[in-house]
Amino acid sequence: MNGIVLPEVEAYMYGLLPQRDQVLSEIETLAASHRIPIIGPAVGRILFLLAKLINAKHVFEMGSAVGYSTIWLARGTGESGVVYYTDTDEENAKRAAVYFKKAGVSDQVRLLIGDALHLIDTVEGDFDLIFNDVGKDRYPEVFAKAYPRLRPGGLLVSDNVLWYGKVAGGNRDTATQAVREFNRLLYSTDGLFTTILPIRDGISVSLKL
Ligand SMILES: C[S@@+](CC[C@H](N)C(=O)[O-])C[C@H]1O[C@@H](n2cnc3c(N)ncnc32)[C@H](O)[C@@H]1O
Repeated sequence: MNGIVLPEVEAYMYGLLPQRDQVLSEIETLAASHRIPIIGPAVGRILFLLAKLINAKHVFEMGSAVGYSTIWLARGTGESGVVYYTDTDEENAKRAAVYFKKAGVSDQVRLLIGDALHLIDTVEGDFDLIFNDVGKDRYPEVFAKAYPRLRPGGLLVSDNVLWYGKVAGGNRDTATQAVREFNRLLYSTDGLFTTILPIRDGISVSLKL
């Protein structure tokens, strides 16, 4: 619950979601008990759907934690797809590797540990889809790195673009200002067509024209 959608409406939407499989349910339980901020199932379904819609096969993820969103992306790209997992925390990556095995997506996922904004330079080729979920203060830098790496028709998808609603108020902390600037860039760049889906904490979807 992020205060974007009315709680009763959000509960209704989440109530519609089919039960996840064993590994996704296990990560959801771990995330809830250890306060790991994962995208959750409603946003997971958006990633799966978008990857399927554009037939994404080459995907770069920035900020993957224990791999929950990575699994949704890997399932959306199918067996012939490749998804680059990135996280600065080695322990997260170790946990994620176990989950990838359980989810049957290990062959599709490349684990990269370090700063996603540097790691993206180490992978060749344009991407069909880039999913961004790193620290919010880095979002404008993410824009500068990700936009040139998308193929025409590719998607830049970002989590938390409504940032608990703080982007709409007078809040001037660094993270909020960075997310605001990121959203401004997404909407004012001629080569992108952007919309924000106000689900959970807000998901931006930008198509490279
Ligand atoms: C919100 S969590 C990601 C959750 C994940 N996308 C999911 O929904 O399952 C953010 C993660 O980004 C990682 N992170 C923060 N800054 C990063 C950076 N510059 N490069 C790579 N990972 C980063 C953190 O360690 C953290 O695990």
